[in-house]
Amino acid sequence: MNWHPTAPLDQTRPDPADVFAAGLKLHHLANTAYPIGHLTTMRPYRLPNASVQAQAPLAWQGVERLGLYVHVPFCEARCGYCEYCVIDPALNAQEQDAYFDLLLDEFELWRQAADTQAKTLVGFDIGGGTPVLPHPAQIERVVAAARRCFHLPESVTISIETTPKIAALQPEKLNAYFDLGIRRISMGVQSVSPRLLNEMGRSATSLAYNRAAAENIRTAGFEKFNVDIMYGFAGQPLQSVEATLRHAISLNPDYITLYRMRYKGTRLAGQAGQVTRAEVHAQYALASELLHAAGYAGTPGKNTFSRLPGDVGTSDYLTERVIRGTPYLGLGLGAQSLSEVTLAYNAGAADKRLEHYRRMLQEGRLPIQDLYHLSPEAAAAKMISVAFYFGEIHLESFRRKFGRTLEQMFPAEVQFVLENGYMEYAAPGGLRLTPAGEPLYNGVIALFYAGAVQQHLLNIAPTPAPPPLGEGKLPKFGDCKRQSRLQSPNFGIQGGKL
Ligand SMILES: C[S@@+](CC[C@H](N)C(=O)[O-])C[C@H]1O[C@@H](n2cnc3c(N)ncnc32)[C@H](O)[C@@H]1O
Ligand code: SF4
Repeated sequence: MNWHPTAPLDQTRPDPADVFAAGLKLHHLANTAYPIGHLTTMRPYRLPNASVQAQAPLAWQGVERLGLYVHVPFCEARCGYCEYCVIDPALNAQEQDAYFDLLLDEFELWRQAADTQAKTLVGFDIGGGTPVLPHPAQIERVVAAARRCFHLPESVTISIETTPKIAALQPEKLNAYFDLGIRRISMGVQSVSPRLLNEMGRSATSLAYNRAAAENIRTAGFEKFNVDIMYGFAGQPLQSVEATLRHAISLNPDYITLYRMRYKGTRLAGQAGQVTRAEVHAQYALASELLHAAGYAGTPGKNTFSRLPGDVGTSDYLTERVIRGTPYLGLGLGAQSLSEVTLAYNAGAADKRLEHYRRMLQEGRLPIQDLYHLSPEAAAAKMISVAFYFGEIHLESFRRKFGRTLEQMFPAEVQFVLENGYMEYAAPGGLRLTPAGEPLYNGVIALFYAGAVQQHLLNIAPTPAPPPLGEGKLPKFGDCKRQSRLQSPNFGIQGGKL
């Protein structure tokens, strides 16, 4: 399967200065979670439902190395801030065991349809939701299925996510995962502010579990221990970020990952407008400073800080995605998959309900809700967006994937970021955010979006946009040519809706 021809709107490149300004203005939207506005911006690439079952496996022909993500959509309670695909916790008891039967069916369907046994996994994440909530025997079935249906080398680090409460109260589960060969564990601490924890529906008692959880994780043998913390909440003072970081560091993890709160699609969506870019930048800067002082390394804009030399800190699965744009297959409710030329979302991605996913598998069909056949521009934008998880685009990976250099594909945009000092060439072979570019990351990332997505941003953020943080003037843009804006069709986007 080859690339889809580029859709007309994606053949356009609006003026980088305008796109940059729109990205800054829409800083709650312009981030690594790409694409934006699927229904309109991706419409030309969407395959009709009737062809999905035949086309989806074809997209994996010739893919020899891939990542695997398995989604477990169960949680004890749904946290108010969470954007992930989690089913109504009231249904957990009746759904859990049957869900793993379905997952195993999905593994088997892919094995048959795409000959996955001949493919090598380069990363394997078990995420959620809370994958440690069900009995570990279910995770054992998942790991066995991965070994049966794919070539899974010993060198691949399997990673799993936990809550502090389960890691603190059920250490036997941690031992069970370690015995299965899982070697990396990630725990969501999020915040130490009792007010925030309460508002998030994540009771303040979870704080008491953090230390016991960290101890149990080490006792079980894990040497790759990550702690997630979040920032960018409405009304969150800097002291709350500082206290959270100090607490996270005191747990002595190997990695700490900073998640800026993403409001879109969450119960807190209405609060997005209360958080300014200046606030989140100050919070990130403080966190980064504290982490560096404690021996955790991270380049500007990077989310995961690591204190292990030579280890970037993310799971093998995510590292491959970020650096090399490696294809990944996502199994489970609402999971996302990316081959070289397609992007797919499983059933449940939108409604977070099991019915459709279950029905498709019971009918022996791959549980895919939306399948997009990508143009090079759409695929490049997806790869680069994920690369900004590290604040850096790996140039050789890009060239290998698209047969063109980044500079050939995005000449005006690369010139713009270099001229303005927002990015710089850095060893080994990356184009990286500079300290000056890091607070302007939302504008920078939008420069590499596909034309339709840029137009979508421009439609909902009419210029003039505010000047960049801490600067009184708009960026310069050398002699790059200003391309005329397309007449704005009505994309069905409601103005100002974020
Ligand atoms: C899929 S969650 C799983 C972690 C685990 N269930 C827990 O709560 O500890 C992974 C991480 O995503 C982050 N996260 C959740 N909702 C988010 C949002 N709306 N915006 C940004 N990050 C979010 C949190 O830091 C969370 O630990
Ligand atoms: S943050 Fe974790 S525990 Fe809370 S709802 Fe999301 S996945 Fe579940």
